[in-house]
Amino acid sequence: MKKTILFPVLMCIPLFGICQVKSIEELLLPAPVSLKQGSGNFILNSKTNIVILSKDIDAKRVATFLSKKLSQSAGFLVNVKTSSTAAGSNIIKLSLISDAILGNEGYKLDITSGTIMLSANKPAGLFYGMQTLVQLMPKEIESIHVVKNMAWKIPACSITDYPRFGWRGLMFDVARHFFTKDEVKKYIDEMVKYKYNLLHLHLTDDEGWRIEIKSLPKLTEVGAWNVKRVGYFGTFQPPSPDEPRTYGGFYTQDDIKEIVQYAKDRFVDILPEIDVPGHSLAAIAAYPELACSAGQGPKSEVSSGQNIKDWSTHTALIDDNLCPANENVYEFLDKVLTELAHLFPFEYIHMGGDETFKTFWEKSDAVKALMQKEGLKTMEEVQSYFEKRVEKIVESKGKKFMGWDEILEGGLAPSAAVMSWRGMKGGIEAAKMKHDVVMSPTDFAYIDYMQGDPIIEPHIYATLRLKKAYQFEPVPEGVDSKYIKGGQANLWSEQLYTFRHAEYMTWPRGFAIAEALWSPKEKRDWDNFFPRVENQFKRLDESEINYAPSAYDPIFEATNTGNKQLMIELSTEPKGLDIYYTFDNSFPDCFSPKYAEPLIVPKESVMLKVITYKGKNPVGRLIYMPIEELQKRADNKK
Ligand code: ACM
Repeated sequence: MKKTILFPVLMCIPLFGICQVKSIEELLLPAPVSLKQGSGNFILNSKTNIVILSKDIDAKRVATFLSKKLSQSAGFLVNVKTSSTAAGSNIIKLSLISDAILGNEGYKLDITSGTIMLSANKPAGLFYGMQTLVQLMPKEIESIHVVKNMAWKIPACSITDYPRFGWRGLMFDVARHFFTKDEVKKYIDEMVKYKYNLLHLHLTDDEGWRIEIKSLPKLTEVGAWNVKRVGYFGTFQPPSPDEPRTYGGFYTQDDIKEIVQYAKDRFVDILPEIDVPGHSLAAIAAYPELACSAGQGPKSEVSSGQNIKDWSTHTALIDDNLCPANENVYEFLDKVLTELAHLFPFEYIHMGGDETFKTFWEKSDAVKALMQKEGLKTMEEVQSYFEKRVEKIVESKGKKFMGWDEILEGGLAPSAAVMSWRGMKGGIEAAKMKHDVVMSPTDFAYIDYMQGDPIIEPHIYATLRLKKAYQFEPVPEGVDSKYIKGGQANLWSEQLYTFRHAEYMTWPRGFAIAEALWSPKEKRDWDNFFPRVENQFKRLDESEINYAPSAYDPIFEATNTGNKQLMIELSTEPKGLDIYYTFDNSFPDCFSPKYAEPLIVPKESVMLKVITYKGKNPVGRLIYMPIEELQKRADNKK
């Protein structure tokens, strides 16, 4: 990658007697478009003034965020004032300018020892420039307590920066497990630090309906509650009738208004998703007449994570789909969308469309009659009929229609935007048909997947390591980039019970996706990225935000050799780590054997224990890997 910065020594932090050297570049994530180092430092103190060279109230809000942050961690109040001029030194100036290269979200940041000049075309640019400015401050700025006796140095530099994509999203599934209004706000606080600007809320699913719809009260009276289970989602026993349905929750419309305003103040749009016609069991539990079986099939209850679908045969075991042949379904959706459109100012409404197993549609006389009447030949065409009708309802509310890539099957609705999740294929197809696309492929952007070895990670059925997430490239070859609005990482919550764990799953893979969406493509460089991730870890420690250290853990590769021995290769995603191991059941540390070449498992050994170090410091977790498990992996290799 091209490096604009070549002079490394800016901060010298005494750490166990070692002088740790950081370049400015190492402080910033996502990487900016261009960065030039200056000389010296701006020193923030209680005499610093923030001056807004504009009367814009949004610009004032950005300045106030900065001053609040300083008062929380530095413990002093800086003065914020509006003025048409600002002379003298020890000033942070915020200015709205006109510079075509910066677009709506870009900014320029010029820091000298006397002044900081932050300029942008729009307040959103000032906001992202402010995030960069905060990243340039000592990590203690992220502390949740006041830190005394700090020199609040900001290195002199000059930055010009703007995003590659306008859609930089995170999806938070608040349906499978409910997360409170305050947790959603905290998620917004965390995402904006990395310049995300879109929060997709997956508001409904088989496990819960999470938004109050005043004209359809049972959606939340019935649909928001199930029976708590912990363990492996999809394997739970169905609840018995006497088990209390007290687990869940929902957002009132006032809650939604508060979240939307909170997000807007931070330049974040909220994309609401109502997932239909599949994944609709919570709605059907509330209004059973909306299913094709119309209450005549197995009793519809909000799922508590038991198996309601046979994934191997794509068979629904319970009727969790809205019936496309029932006019009441479209009236129901009209009511939902009328209220939704008033609550969410964002231009799009996401209507789901994924994983609609057609088992009960196939059995339905009403669907058969609909097919005959409309000349529909396949179940995919039936879903397409449904999607086109829903598209019209969405548009009648003044909104644009978006869905998961299944909405391509059977014919895409004329103005639909597609969110591509089953790889990039659906996105490519839609872009070639001149439809707008958001890329969120499972292979790079599914942050509900495990991020390391299943022997240690909280269980789910697939893995996405940090290094792979960092390879996310939203614009595939041969596609006109103007149809790719951007991308997002998706955090599904089947296996997510707490907000701490949501953080663990989001960071650091959220850094990787943020960089793919903000920074120039040619800046992508794993070896340059990982030290910046490590720098952010220290800041997350200050703010007590959880993250996964999984990238430090080793990767195990087990092979049967020609002479029937079991061979183990160990590696790590980042460079510069040492791996120590034992086969004798003792705990490895940096005095244990250091991995240097493939290991042959000693006969009768039962456990390989490993840990990674960076110099004298353990960084990975102590992993117990049963030899039996390694043998199984070697035997299963083709
Ligand atoms: C999805 O992951 N089912 C969109």
